[in-house]
Amino acid sequence: MTMAGDGYRVGVVGATGAVGTTILELLAERRFPAAEVVPFSSDRSAGTKLPYAGRELECRPLSDEAIAGLDLVLSSAGGKVSAEWAPRLVDAGAVVVDNTSYWRMHEDVPLVVAEVNPEALDAHRGIVANPNCSAMQMVVALAPIQRAVGLERLVVSTYQPVSGTGRRAMQELEAQTHAILHGSEVPPAQVYPHRIAFNVLPQVETFKAGDDYTTEERKMMAETRKILGATEEELKISATCVRVPVLKGESESVNVQTREPLSSEDCRRLLAGAPGVMVVDSPGDGVYPLATEVAGRDQVLVGRIRRDPSHERCLNMWIVGDNLRKGAATNAVQVAELLHQRELVRVPERAGATPASS
Ligand SMILES: NC(=O)c1ccc[n+]([C@@H]2O[C@H](COP(=O)([O-])OP(=O)(O)OC[C@H]3O[C@@H](n4cnc5c(N)ncnc54)[C@H](OP(=O)(O)O)[C@@H]3O)[C@@H](O)[C@H]2O)c1
Repeated sequence: MTMAGDGYRVGVVGATGAVGTTILELLAERRFPAAEVVPFSSDRSAGTKLPYAGRELECRPLSDEAIAGLDLVLSSAGGKVSAEWAPRLVDAGAVVVDNTSYWRMHEDVPLVVAEVNPEALDAHRGIVANPNCSAMQMVVALAPIQRAVGLERLVVSTYQPVSGTGRRAMQELEAQTHAILHGSEVPPAQVYPHRIAFNVLPQVETFKAGDDYTTEERKMMAETRKILGATEEELKISATCVRVPVLKGESESVNVQTREPLSSEDCRRLLAGAPGVMVVDSPGDGVYPLATEVAGRDQVLVGRIRRDPSHERCLNMWIVGDNLRKGAATNAVQVAELLHQRELVRVPERAGATPASS
């Protein structure tokens, strides 16, 4: 369906969550052409009132009746909900921008970063996937380098905040920190395998049987290649994903091996003109990207750009993004804007995207 009258009927699934509330803020802030916004949650939060553009919207549970007539849905309620409801929403006539990992690697589903591969949207069959936050912020900074000199190999370590796991994880960090600072009994870890307060966990998500990389590390490697259109042979990637006791803002140390040489000065100049990137790089003055500085920003901050002394075609850099904004909600809303601009808010006939095998 294309926009008629005042705008689209937009659903936000997972509207009470860390990502969903940010999506509501951004739809209003960026004045997305919505005639109506309908927030959805589980039964637990049905009836909750959420602020949107100076009004209050009431959350409702998902049902066939409630999704009828939606044009566009931004969904962030976990993989299980997306596995079941994305095809049902598409059948009901809505285009779905999905924030979970469930559909990302499906071959019929474009995995889109607004500044990097918007053209991939043209082939959508009803579902568009929003990448993992770690891959998302990294490719915004790396795509201009890929275009200019090519990419050969990436070695990345992430420093990921607890908001990446959602509301309960933020509460867990706050409760444990409060208890330690007040000398009271520390609540046991529930969301994470170990205490997160005053700790660093070399595990983000889970280990599948027989794999010594976590599911987050696998996603980061596979999604980065899909977005940048590179095969495993063309772009080697090694990732270590780490959870740190930070509420918001993800930091990444990235070692970038290019195909052609690129000086750190040229890299700085290239990134200074790149969409969605802000170069923050005067380390001698204590100026570099910080998680505390990125909250609320839509750009990815890049700094500490320097030559790797161990390799003539390698640079090191520090990339920081707001995981709830550019890492999730901002890109989802940018994708919705691109779908609107390209007149793609319509489900192609016989859409029929099928679920991923895993
Ligand atoms: N946080 C991030 O930085 C980030 C970034 C990219 C992608 N993501 C992905 O986005 C998804 C949500 O993440 P989050 O951090 O926002 O999680 P969250 O804070 O835990 O929020 C989860 C949301 O899903 C809703 N929900 C849960 N079960 C549901 C059901 N059966 N039917 C309908 N709604 C249901 C919850 O509603 P109730 O209030 O009723 O429980 C809540 O609104 C996850 O798949 C995550 O991997 C997160």
